Amino acid sequence: MFLRNKLSLAVQDKMAFLIEPVRPSSIKSHDRFILERKIFPYILSNCKKVLFVGCAKYTKSYNQVFSNIEYWTLDFLEAKARYGSKNHVQGSLTELSKYFKKDYFDAIILNSVFGWGVDTAPEIRLALVECNQVLRSGGILIIGWNDLGTRSSKEFREMINSNRLFELFDLPTLNTYEYRTESHRHVFNFLRKPCNTA
Ligand SMILES: C[S@@+](CC[C@H](N)C(=O)[O-])C[C@H]1O[C@@H](n2cnc3c(N)ncnc32)[C@H](O)[C@@H]1O
Repeated sequence: MFLRNKLSLAVQDKMAFLIEPVRPSSIKSHDRFILERKIFPYILSNCKKVLFVGCAKYTKSYNQVFSNIEYWTLDFLEAKARYGSKNHVQGSLTELSKYFKKDYFDAIILNSVFGWGVDTAPEIRLALVECNQVLRSGGILIIGWNDLGTRSSKEFREMINSNRLFELFDLPTLNTYEYRTESHRHVFNFLRKPCNTA
């Protein structure tokens, strides 16, 4: 399963020139509505340095949305760079501390990356460690993923909500740390890197 996902990502990279022109430049769905109308406004009002992981044709317009803040994008496929920010890094979420300084970002948005390339429990664990490294104290981690109700979904949810690196964060624009949308079983989880108490 894991190998199949990796192979299909490599094929996607090579075939992007065929697939991308037919993809829409924006998506109308409840999860996208929540991301763009509830989550982004919070980010825009509270954050100065943001990392958005995973690019697609329909995320290109986010460059405009975040044009007044320091907006970074990251994707491990070379073909996705064209949809990224002027501050784009080609690389893996599981190696963030190779590209960014410690405590750099105010927020990191991982939408549809778990399950779309970061698929196994060890990879998710590593991704959370790397996000923790490059987020400042009090920084926000936003994870959007499809909770398919399987055994591994249960395990992912547990890893997201009960890990020691982050605390649960009630996003003020949604009043909750976990929001279930009405589309594709897509769920958003909101975490915060604890503030230094020393
Ligand atoms: C389904 S798309 C999600 C795009 C976008 N984040 C969104 O809001 O829909 C998944 C993207 O994540 C990227 N991706 C998957 N695993 C990654 C990893 N380990 N590091 C960086 N990017 C990754 C893929 O190349 C792909 O472009």
